[in-house]
Amino acid sequence: MSPGSLIRQLLPGTAILSGDQDLEEFYALPSARCLRADFVVSIDGAVEIEGKSRGLGGPADRAAFMAMRAVTDAVLVGAGTARIERYGPVSLSEAVEQRRLARGQEPAPPLVVVSRRGLLGSDDRVFLNGYRPIVVTTAAALQEHPELEDLAHVIVCGEDEVDLPKSVDHLVGMGFERLLCEGGPALLHSLLSHDLVDEMCVTFSPVIAGPHHLLLSGDRPLGQPSRFRLEGLLEGDGLLLARYGRDRDRR
Ligand SMILES: NC(=O)c1ccc[n+]([C@@H]2O[C@H](COP(=O)([O-])OP(=O)(O)OC[C@H]3O[C@@H](n4cnc5c(N)ncnc54)[C@H](OP(=O)(O)O)[C@@H]3O)[C@@H](O)[C@H]2O)c1
Repeated sequence: MSPGSLIRQLLPGTAILSGDQDLEEFYALPSARCLRADFVVSIDGAVEIEGKSRGLGGPADRAAFMAMRAVTDAVLVGAGTARIERYGPVSLSEAVEQRRLARGQEPAPPLVVVSRRGLLGSDDRVFLNGYRPIVVTTAAALQEHPELEDLAHVIVCGEDEVDLPKSVDHLVGMGFERLLCEGGPALLHSLLSHDLVDEMCVTFSPVIAGPHHLLLSGDRPLGQPSRFRLEGLLEGDGLLLARYGRDRDRR
């Protein structure tokens, strides 16, 4: 958390969160497998301004983003977001790394990029300084881009489409039980349509973006609506940070 910044916890109970550890406690994950998605949106649901999420966030959102990274086993991101937001390896402070080690986690969560077409160039930031991310892709993409295996730990799940339920099972089987999906909307849409999302962390930014922006879960119908219940709420810098748990009893 940036020095001097304060985040108010409004639910459950009320409290002032003044440090990274308070936030990590708020975002603590269950020991069982779960998939959390984290997004920042405008009041009218847009996830980008001029193509990037940067125009929506603020210090409180950044602190929450880092706290979620601090507690997760792996960070999952769609290739679109990795390309546009110039994703690199996840980097955490030494103090956070020490807390992760004490909890029996790796010092930093690996980055998992989901790509249908395997379109990642060797100079992409995801491969910064020889870093080998996990790339979940299709058999067709690997056939087209066999060089991916020199750059990344490749998981093939699906022929022409990434089979997301299988991909998540595979990641869990590798020991990454608690996953954090950082977007984007296309990947979230697919995860929701397979009912794979257990928790939605949505930060509402006090901005109206207007029409012609990408919306939270993409622009295609979802089939059944997925119902969530509010489990936590924070406020900081005028942003509202909500944590919703999947309500599987209400369909
Ligand atoms: N506000 C926020 O919190 C937030 C968070 C993340 C992103 N964003 C914004 O969202 C925009 C990017 O959106 P996006 O929807 O293009 O990004 P995305 O969901 O990250 O990426 C879509 C890509 O993911 C890959 N993919 C593989 N399997 C998939 C599947 N089953 N379903 C869906 N995608 C699959 C494909 O990659 P290939 O093309 O390689 O095949 C597809 O083109 C950017 O403007 C970014 O700034 C905002």
